[in-house]
Amino acid sequence: MTTPIQTSHETLAVIRERVSASHFDPTYSMDEAVIAELIGYACEAPSAYHLQNWRFIAVQSPENKQKLRELAYGQHQVFDAAVTIIVVGTLDGHERIRDNLQPLLKAGLMTADDLNAWADDTHRGMSGKPAKQRDEAIRSGALAAMNLMTAAQAIGLASAPMGGFDAAAVSTAFGIVSTEVPVMLVAIGRAAAGNWPRKPRRPVNDVLTFV
Ligand SMILES: Cc1cc2nc3c(=O)[nH]c(=O)nc-3n(C[C@H](O)[C@H](O)[C@H](O)COP(=O)(O)O)c2cc1C
Repeated sequence: MTTPIQTSHETLAVIRERVSASHFDPTYSMDEAVIAELIGYACEAPSAYHLQNWRFIAVQSPENKQKLRELAYGQHQVFDAAVTIIVVGTLDGHERIRDNLQPLLKAGLMTADDLNAWADDTHRGMSGKPAKQRDEAIRSGALAAMNLMTAAQAIGLASAPMGGFDAAAVSTAFGIVSTEVPVMLVAIGRAAAGNWPRKPRRPVNDVLTFV
């Protein structure tokens, strides 16, 4: 028998407390240093081949928030939150895999031979495979977005993931190029009154199969 999960565990409590906020305190702003720290936690997400196939655009000026809000079908949380992060997935991360692995080499976590084998493997898996590149960009971006929301929750902030935006228009407006894909918007800030409470989930028995 394994030990029962302690649901009071801090990380588990943070996961259960997070909700998608639609109301943010528009007077609350965040220092760029704090935003950067949160992005650091987003980047702790795993990615296939350690591609780290993501980048993040922190939309915080009123003008840019207004522009993004219009391209997100008027969703007011984009404007009211302190910052809305555009989580961008990159399709050509395999082209930079050798650079990504250099810190592992320097730290003695892998040899030069390991690095070459890893990079070759990555290229075999990713080069010339647009569907795979997009799948991995969305997968990595989604994992990073979840980390970002959990980290925000852990420091007492609210967050809101959004897929409701015009991807082509957002790309044009915010310099997202053809080797990238906007994965999700994540608004972050201080919650205001009127947000939904936590929504109950489907029973685990309905979604879990043991085989
Ligand atoms: C990928 C994704 C896209 C979403 N897009 C929107 C959106 O555009 N607008 C919105 O108000 N909520 C959006 N949501 C929030 C969902 O409605 C919300 O996560 C869901 O109802 C569960 O509620 P909870 O996050 O509070 O647990 C999105 C969530 C995800 C994960």
